[in-house]
Amino acid sequence: MSLETLMWVEKYRPARLEDLVDQTAIKGRLKLMLEKKDQLPHLLFAGPPGSGKTTTAVILARQILGENWTEYTLALNASDERGIDTVRQRIKTFARFADRRAGVPFRLVILDEADETTADAQTALRRIMEENSRQTRFVLICNYSSGIIEPLQSRCAIFRFQRLDEASVTGHLEEIARQENLKASGDAFGAIYEATQGDLRQAINLMQAAAASGELTGDSVRSASGASVKARVAEIVRLALDGEFEASRTRMVELTKVYGVPERDFLRFANEALGSMKVEDMGTAVSILAEYDFRLVQGSQPELQLTAMLAQLSALKKKGG
Ligand SMILES: Nc1ncnc2c1ncn2[C@@H]1O[C@H](COP(=O)(O)OP(=O)(O)OP(=O)(O)O)[C@@H](O)[C@H]1O
Ligand SMILES: [Mg+2]
Repeated sequence: MSLETLMWVEKYRPARLEDLVDQTAIKGRLKLMLEKKDQLPHLLFAGPPGSGKTTTAVILARQILGENWTEYTLALNASDERGIDTVRQRIKTFARFADRRAGVPFRLVILDEADETTADAQTALRRIMEENSRQTRFVLICNYSSGIIEPLQSRCAIFRFQRLDEASVTGHLEEIARQENLKASGDAFGAIYEATQGDLRQAINLMQAAAASGELTGDSVRSASGASVKARVAEIVRLALDGEFEASRTRMVELTKVYGVPERDFLRFANEALGSMKVEDMGTAVSILAEYDFRLVQGSQPELQLTAMLAQLSALKKKGG
């Protein structure tokens, strides 16, 4: 199954401005701007996690650039460890290769997590924006606009996304539940809001996690948001040690992507679980965990590393027979 159908946050990601929950003022301003596409300024989206910033940037790209929007859009993570030089290089290459077809007013560069970059990098970015501003528009995305240097802010039209209120979150969750044929008890949505506080991504993920237990109730929500994670990690480790690599991998991806369990936590729980299990070659198993803990700290790609770890644990079984 593709990630898009597996994860409700992707499956139900709005494709049109009208479908975006809340953020009424933002939708209104953007609609006006879209009437004069070629005069669009650079944009700065600021606001809390899961409030629709990235979603809105993608919707804009689609509406401005049409069906070939991916060819004319460069999406980068500004806080990426490779830094601003990579950004500059990629933007240069991108600017050289993207031609100007009729109906495509400019190229779009979407820079996510812009507030995580250093002031130096932002100064460099300012120059890049100036050098490319004739054919390129930038959408900077951040949680806090205070993390963006003043000269960058002043070059952008600023949009402040609001944390979603309880009625909006509940309304959206009810709609997803209806489409998924889910029965929800009266207190389920309140429990989800309490645990996620207006972060719609987290709210949808939590609802999916709770529903996976078979029923959507206040209790299933509370347990999905807490203790049950440990138990799930233990099951995954058990599967791997039993040589069931594919099954353990699928469930690890589900846990980290859908439930949003951080990879380091996964390892920590895995270590705890291992401690209370009967394992033939405990020494090797523990050193495998330690090795991958080290690699995660070094910043290697986490999903790949955890997958490799599960493969090694599974291989123990084959060796042992
Ligand atoms: N306003 C919204 N209307 C509808 N769905 C939303 C809205 N905000 C978030 N979502 C849901 O949450 C998911 C994540 O949203 P998005 O990626 O736009 O968040 P974000 O504001 O960029 O958060 P972050 O700061 O963590 O990157 C979307 O795929 C969508 O399912
Ligand atoms: Mg985002």
